[in-house]
Amino acid sequence: MQDAILRLESNTVDVVIKTHPFAEILYWGPHLQHFSPQDASSLARPVANGRLDVDSPVTLMAELGHGLFGSPGIEGHRLGLDGSPVFTTTGVQQQGQTLTVTAEDAQAALRLTSELALDASGVLTVRHGVTNLKAQPWQVDRIAVTLPLAERAQEVMAFHGRWIHEFQPHRVELEHDSFVIENRRGKTSHEHFPALISGTPSFGEMQGDVWGVHLGWSGNHRLRVEAKTDGRRYVQAEALYLPGEMAIDEGETLWTPRLYASYSAHGLNGMSQQFHRYLRENIIRFPDNKPRPVHLNTWEGIYFSHDPAYIMKMADEAAALGVERFIIDDGWYKGRSDDRRALGDWYLDENKYPNGLTPVIDHVKALGMEFGIWVEPEMISPDSDLYRAHPDWVLALPGYAQATGRHQLVLNLNIPEAFEYLVERMSWLLGEHDVDYVKWDMNRELVQPGHHGKAAADAQTRQFYRLLDVLGKRFPRVEFESCSSGGGRIDYEVLTRSHRFWPSDNNDALERNTIQRGMSYFFPPEVMGAHIGHHKCHATFRQHDIAFRGLTALFGHMGLELDPLTVDEQEREGYRHYAALHKQWREVIHTGTQWRIDMPDAATLAQGIVSDDKKQGLFIVSQLKMPDYTLMMPLRMPGLEASAQYRITLLDHPNIRLTGEGGHTMRKLPAWMDAPQTASGEWLMQAGIALPILDPETAILIGVERV
Ligand code: DGJ
Repeated sequence: MQDAILRLESNTVDVVIKTHPFAEILYWGPHLQHFSPQDASSLARPVANGRLDVDSPVTLMAELGHGLFGSPGIEGHRLGLDGSPVFTTTGVQQQGQTLTVTAEDAQAALRLTSELALDASGVLTVRHGVTNLKAQPWQVDRIAVTLPLAERAQEVMAFHGRWIHEFQPHRVELEHDSFVIENRRGKTSHEHFPALISGTPSFGEMQGDVWGVHLGWSGNHRLRVEAKTDGRRYVQAEALYLPGEMAIDEGETLWTPRLYASYSAHGLNGMSQQFHRYLRENIIRFPDNKPRPVHLNTWEGIYFSHDPAYIMKMADEAAALGVERFIIDDGWYKGRSDDRRALGDWYLDENKYPNGLTPVIDHVKALGMEFGIWVEPEMISPDSDLYRAHPDWVLALPGYAQATGRHQLVLNLNIPEAFEYLVERMSWLLGEHDVDYVKWDMNRELVQPGHHGKAAADAQTRQFYRLLDVLGKRFPRVEFESCSSGGGRIDYEVLTRSHRFWPSDNNDALERNTIQRGMSYFFPPEVMGAHIGHHKCHATFRQHDIAFRGLTALFGHMGLELDPLTVDEQEREGYRHYAALHKQWREVIHTGTQWRIDMPDAATLAQGIVSDDKKQGLFIVSQLKMPDYTLMMPLRMPGLEASAQYRITLLDHPNIRLTGEGGHTMRKLPAWMDAPQTASGEWLMQAGIALPILDPETAILIGVERV
């Protein structure tokens, strides 16, 4: 078969693929209303002088053997042989919007299986499987998923970060060569979130063509945008293998992680909304499909000082504040008096809990709350009974000193006995206690990860998945939170096995504004843990009043991260108020469409969530610094029904006096705040509403309701 042209289509996005003799994506862009396959021949390229005499396609596998001269999609060999595969299509199967292409290189004895699926949300998922057809192992250096980008996608956006400073966006213009993200930390990482966004110059929240990709993988990775010398562009993403780490034996198939790709003709919001919809419909699952309960997590309240009587008093107070799930963090197991010891000893600390955990759990349940507990199974402290019994269970390379991180080492999950030990201990914890929720932590990077002397970062990641799979199957009603010193393991693959993320150990509302906005490009609010912390933030020592902290935690999965017994009544009243406000609106927040709003003043962060039926909209305006201008710019409210009338209401505002004497920012409020006002959705979307002048580090919540 020659030049078969196939299309995957959705309401917003299409992908057009030429399947023979080599599979090549010709188009990934807006949905085409009038497409016919013969149109595709208009893109047949000229052959330029001064280079190869044949056309060089950027194929599905981006093989160098086609004269790609860029970063190839596959690199590997058999002791130096069979190192430049070129795959010829052998089979094509389209079922609805799912396409499977098989291809072979008989010379290199490799088979390629490519799976592409375009979801109704507009999200394209792609993965490749490479099968070794020969007796000797094929050493894999790289296997990537490559997607072509339109030549007009000249700008790149990515996220950098670190502990307590996750999801920080940055941008570059890319005219030539490559922009590359590489992560060798052995987990998704705070530093290199596995995503890249390319777009037309100055793409924004509401405008521009945007192509965003995310690699669903919780280990080492590499992502790249390449501008070829001929002007063509592509994005590439892969699991990154350490030297010698990966080989495929005869008959074995190695699958790439899934690449999730979202094209939007309407800027970043369109991209994110498709990702959110995809996750909601395909990945996010909550046992019992109930509303996300408001949390209280003990970590920043009591750290390692666990006294069951005191914890029960905390639980009493939490319940009185409206908390619905109470979580005991680090410090409950044998010998864990500080962060220098005891990881691996997953037995109850009977000195702290002489009567066991059950009385505390029963107490929490009697108060009508769910119960959660913290674990960090992948780790082992040098000062632990487990290490003393099994020093050889550490993930390391023989002959080298393994550095500790947070005083701990990593347990080698590839050792069957170590794996089984964890299954047994976690099953004791979850099977013999009435646990609803597990905060699963992971607090260090992998350095020289080794098993039998060979690099084993990839294998460790797979065993981590297997461990969660075994436990998830055994305890299907238990929810898992993925935490890794805050936001060090946030990705779509771990989300298939968990229910919520802890985005950051930084509960400073000012910092959280940026972190949460960064995370929102890829994740909807219901999986984003957002806790009200102590008024003097433990990560930054910055102080914020309860209104700013409460509103900042509103558009997420809300919780408290503090000891409610040590604060004054005014603070407690604040927790009560924001927990209630969150519950009042959580259905909209956890199911509606999220909008980030471009504001002329970069110090103003505005966002909204509009219910699916467009009857209700919530908008938060957060003023991060001193406003740049005397007046704040009007807030345009996207996502409403143009023809409908909406009532505008101030739902929550900071504890400042807004007017008159003593009011330091305004003599007069915007009129809609003084007298009831309605306006059409069209007007609110296009013209907007005047904003009150906000102090730095304050926020307001505005609601619109269809009348
Ligand atoms: C790191 C987490 O991010 C924190 O929330 C807390 O659970 C500590 N670990 C406990 O050691």
